[in-house]
Amino acid sequence: MSETQPSGRGTQFDLGSGRPTGEIRKLTSLLEVSQALANATNFKASLQRVLDILEKSHDAVRSAVAIEAGDQLPLEVVASLGGARDKAWSAGVPGGALSRQVFATGRPVVVPRMSREPVFADRRPSDDERSFVCVPLLLNRRASGVLCIELRFKAERDYERTSKFFGVVGSMIAHALKVQKLLEADRERLVQENVRLQGELRERYDFSHILGTSRAMHEVCEQMMQVARTNTTVLIRGESGTGKELIAQAIHYNSQRASRPFVKVSCAALPDTLIESELFGYEKGAFTGAIARKAGRFERADGGTLFLDEIGDVNLAVQVKLLRVLQEREFERLGGTDPVRVNVRLIAATNKQLEDAIAAGTFREDLLYRLNVFTIFVPPLRERKTDVLLLADHFLERLATDHRKRIRRISTPAIDMLMAYHWPGNVRELQNVIERAVLVCDGDVVHAHHLPPTLQMADTSEASATQPLSAALAAYEKDLIQDALKMARGNRAKAARLLHATARIVNYKIRKYRIDWRRFR
Ligand SMILES: Nc1ncnc2c1ncn2[C@@H]1O[C@H](COP(=O)(O)OP(=O)(O)OP(=O)(O)O)[C@@H](O)[C@H]1O
Ligand SMILES: [Mg+2]
Repeated sequence: MSETQPSGRGTQFDLGSGRPTGEIRKLTSLLEVSQALANATNFKASLQRVLDILEKSHDAVRSAVAIEAGDQLPLEVVASLGGARDKAWSAGVPGGALSRQVFATGRPVVVPRMSREPVFADRRPSDDERSFVCVPLLLNRRASGVLCIELRFKAERDYERTSKFFGVVGSMIAHALKVQKLLEADRERLVQENVRLQGELRERYDFSHILGTSRAMHEVCEQMMQVARTNTTVLIRGESGTGKELIAQAIHYNSQRASRPFVKVSCAALPDTLIESELFGYEKGAFTGAIARKAGRFERADGGTLFLDEIGDVNLAVQVKLLRVLQEREFERLGGTDPVRVNVRLIAATNKQLEDAIAAGTFREDLLYRLNVFTIFVPPLRERKTDVLLLADHFLERLATDHRKRIRRISTPAIDMLMAYHWPGNVRELQNVIERAVLVCDGDVVHAHHLPPTLQMADTSEASATQPLSAALAAYEKDLIQDALKMARGNRAKAARLLHATARIVNYKIRKYRIDWRRFR
């Protein structure tokens, strides 16, 4: 301490006015300071509040908190009071060299009369006399900054006690500062983690992870890229296990909404009684057990994408509500009257023939039109046989690694069996078949006997090098009909004309080869 005065006063209470003075006032202030610093959401505002307390109860005319800023700039003012109009205070750390000394040594400095201290030589002679106190922000004997206070000069002031009191305030600030830094480091870590995870997700659902060299899959990929950039509602149709969910995710993670949530709802998995509250949420008291308001998946997907899987399974009441969200972008929570507005891109998927459901009265035609803005048909695996090997190799590599096995390849007879099979369960079934093979395989090659019995009895009616003439002709005929249906956009009569055949024959073959003509509409 550069200069101190001995303690001279002992009065603790001003009995006349009943106001606390001396030690009581200091304790009260310390309590207020600790409460102010407990508010961690805005650290600078807390510091400002601390300086307010010092001004109000402790004669502080001007005050500032400066903290270590880096090697080049040792101290940076983060909060100040009363000094805005004063050049010396607003320019840098008050007390210049003195404050830096406090920071470096961790010991307080008290200047009872500023007019006599050369550091403050630029003060005007007309200024009233003041005292300057600077204390370190001390934690574990290390200073992380300083607290500077300019007090009205009082000859009888006990400077030792004054500096001790401000020293305690300084330590409290140091403590809060440390907590703040930990919180910031934590927040920074979480942000980084989030960025990393999002990058990972984006990579996982990159278009390149959707495998397929067949023309059909190329078309699907082109459509995905087209639609990803837009906000259009997408309907993904295809048999079970064809990769509809994978496509929905790829669209989301390649859209501008990628950093916002992708929320999936499996409509078939939710009972009728639950689906409405799951989708739209509910207000407190909407039904027994609704003890608090709950946001639905629509709200949770705000800014992002809502994926309605198996949309063909939702009941008519929910269909009406969905229609309204699609038309007006708003809905009400269950038991609520206030409309909730959301910004959600909708992707729906189904393996059902929605046209049949419309005919049966279980699906609303107007909802299909709303969903049908952009439809992607995912072809069944049996119609893109060229992808079978590619996918099989991919799954083999991945699953062998997962199960820590060294399997190099699939034998030719096993490949023939994979190619001959009609894959009713599509890509998911193929994945399961390969996983089973990986598990039962004891060498480094997957052989035919590692494949499940269903494949051993495969109906080899489809294209294969060793098939009989009748099977090859049937496969060729089926291809021709499918091509014609594609050109005729699902119109069977037109397809028949293109093939120079009668509608009756074409219809018969469509049934015989189990061709799903509606897919081409
Ligand atoms: N083209 C593809 N490339 C790589 N993996 C694929 C491809 N298509 C599908 N898969 C994989 O096959 C499995 C089934 O795909 P997905 O769950 O997307 O099918 P789905 O059409 O949603 O089926 P369901 O109608 O039964 O729900 C997933 O593990 C998926 O990763
Ligand atoms: Mg699915």
